Amino acid sequence: EAYENVGWYRAGGKIDASRPMVAITFDDGPGKYTDAVLSILEKYNARATFFVQGKSVSGYKSVMKRAVTLGNEIGNHTWSHVKLTSSSSEVIAEQINATNSAVYNATGVYPKLYRPPYGAYNNAVLSCINMPAIMWSVDTLDWKTRSPAKTLESVKRSTYDGSIILMHDIHKPTLDAVESVVKHLLMNKFQLVTVSELIQARQGYAVSGRVYNSVKP
Ligand code: NI
Repeated sequence: EAYENVGWYRAGGKIDASRPMVAITFDDGPGKYTDAVLSILEKYNARATFFVQGKSVSGYKSVMKRAVTLGNEIGNHTWSHVKLTSSSSEVIAEQINATNSAVYNATGVYPKLYRPPYGAYNNAVLSCINMPAIMWSVDTLDWKTRSPAKTLESVKRSTYDGSIILMHDIHKPTLDAVESVVKHLLMNKFQLVTVSELIQARQGYAVSGRVYNSVKP
């Protein structure tokens, strides 16, 4: 198949910082479809970033470990999907720290990034959390449409070099969209990297307290 002729695939997932790249992200898991998402990513030498709820991690420790072993990144999406802009600094710290610990216990690696639930942040939130805040530039609305075709269409319409794509691996139609999305991006010569790899390739390092919607060349 043609994707096998694409540079990224042939290079076994080695990053060329001078070439286009995008970061696929999956929120709200881990859940019962996460392992199947990992298998698709593995098949295509693709990587993604999973912004997980801390409360769900202990039930999927081996899946989290597999995600990291395959080169994917685990980010922090709070312990129980709280709206950070409505939370005290004590609650924010608990939500973030407990999730970091849960991910470390499962994988041996601490999250380096967080995504605020509902995309809700303000200056108080940003200054309270000692990590970069990762938003997105491509909102597939997969949770709303529950349509693999519409999810793919959204990616086709809106993705450019440096995009951060938002999806949710807790929904079956999203799992059903992943292979077509990955193939489409590979065929269009995008390298499929983690958010940290995207930021590192383009800017060298990520800055705590800063908000990233995309990372253009
Ligand atoms: Ni969420």
